[in-house]
Amino acid sequence: MASVIHVETNKKYDVEVGAGLLLTCGDKIKAITGTCRAAIITDSNVSKLYLNKVEKSLEQAGFNTDSFVFKAGEGSKNIETLSDILEFLAENNYTRTDILVALGGGVVGDITGFAASVYLRGVRFVQLPTTLLAMVDSSVGGKTAVDLKAGKNLAGAFYQPEVVLADTETLKTLNRQELANGFAESIKYGVLFDKKLFDLFDCDLDDEKLERAISECIAHKARVVKNDEFDLGERKLLNLGHTIGHAIEKCSGYATPHGHAVAAGMAMIARASEKMGLAEAGTSEKIEKMLLRYNLPVDCDIYEDKELYFTSLGDKKREGGSITLVIPEKIGGSVLRKEAVADLEKYITLGKKGN
Ligand SMILES: NC(=O)c1ccc[n+]([C@@H]2O[C@H](COP(=O)([O-])OP(=O)(O)OC[C@H]3O[C@@H](n4cnc5c(N)ncnc54)[C@H](O)[C@@H]3O)[C@@H](O)[C@H]2O)c1
Ligand SMILES: [Zn+2]
Repeated sequence: MASVIHVETNKKYDVEVGAGLLLTCGDKIKAITGTCRAAIITDSNVSKLYLNKVEKSLEQAGFNTDSFVFKAGEGSKNIETLSDILEFLAENNYTRTDILVALGGGVVGDITGFAASVYLRGVRFVQLPTTLLAMVDSSVGGKTAVDLKAGKNLAGAFYQPEVVLADTETLKTLNRQELANGFAESIKYGVLFDKKLFDLFDCDLDDEKLERAISECIAHKARVVKNDEFDLGERKLLNLGHTIGHAIEKCSGYATPHGHAVAAGMAMIARASEKMGLAEAGTSEKIEKMLLRYNLPVDCDIYEDKELYFTSLGDKKREGGSITLVIPEKIGGSVLRKEAVADLEKYITLGKKGN
């Protein structure tokens, strides 16, 4: 049984979650956009698994399709690939009435959304997320971006999709590491807003429970995005674990995957918050146990405190001399806390297990 979550931003759209949605994606997209030309943007792994299925479904529904496949991985989420996509659309005479279809994980979704936001000053696009991370996080809420040499996601736009269709069947081909990445972001919603959801991740998740968990994560994201589409307040809560996490990712030269870095960042900020008396006793232990259940890291001992601190200074969440941190006060309740940038080092130090 598929579930539908309604997202209300300046654009209103649905996120559908269920098994087998790629098979019927053509008709579902047609119901929203009508038939037109559809450029499917995907990566070299996902294309082998799902491109045929999506092409077929779209063609059967009356779309004329083209596909653009780029090399899988974060390394492709850059201006060069963006430029290649835009040139591809222009060479093939795509017009403002046509659509882009993002088929893949967060890398595909982010770059396709950004391409859609700038091509001809904006064409419509749809998200077909195929990773857990993309389903619960990146495909919903309209943040699109590419990485610059100076850091991740430094060029982008807020640009919402027409619809998001999350086919949970696609998760069966994801490897354990990629699944764990998505679980880090999923567990984050439990820590932030919802103890019941947090506890659900402590169960053995069968297909039905996993679909429920995904839908609930999306519902949390949809609520936050509705209240704060442009990241001026409440939406910053979704950055739990991300300030230290981004520093870890960057220090590793992006060898540490996003979700793994966020997991370590989340465990560290929880530990530091508890030591500083900002979080309920036992919170960090609960978070740590849950992350370990999904084989996620809960500490970062390979980089010096100073290295992590100086790396995090480039973080785009910094506002002049201060930085807004997300403090998990307890499971299911977190707050934003503005700190002087210099105090971040204290959080990093206290966040490490041995300290
Ligand atoms: N826009 C947002 O709000 C937002 C939020 C969180 C993360 N992100 C971005 O998302 C990106 C990470 O997303 P990701 O973890 O999905 O990475 P990804 O897109 O690189 O996918 C991970 C890997 O899994 C492969 N893959 C995808 N679907 C598959 C499937 N069903 N079966 C087998 N293999 C599959 C991909 O080819 C890739 O190798 C980062 O760039 C991050 O910045 C964006
Ligand atoms: Zn993230």
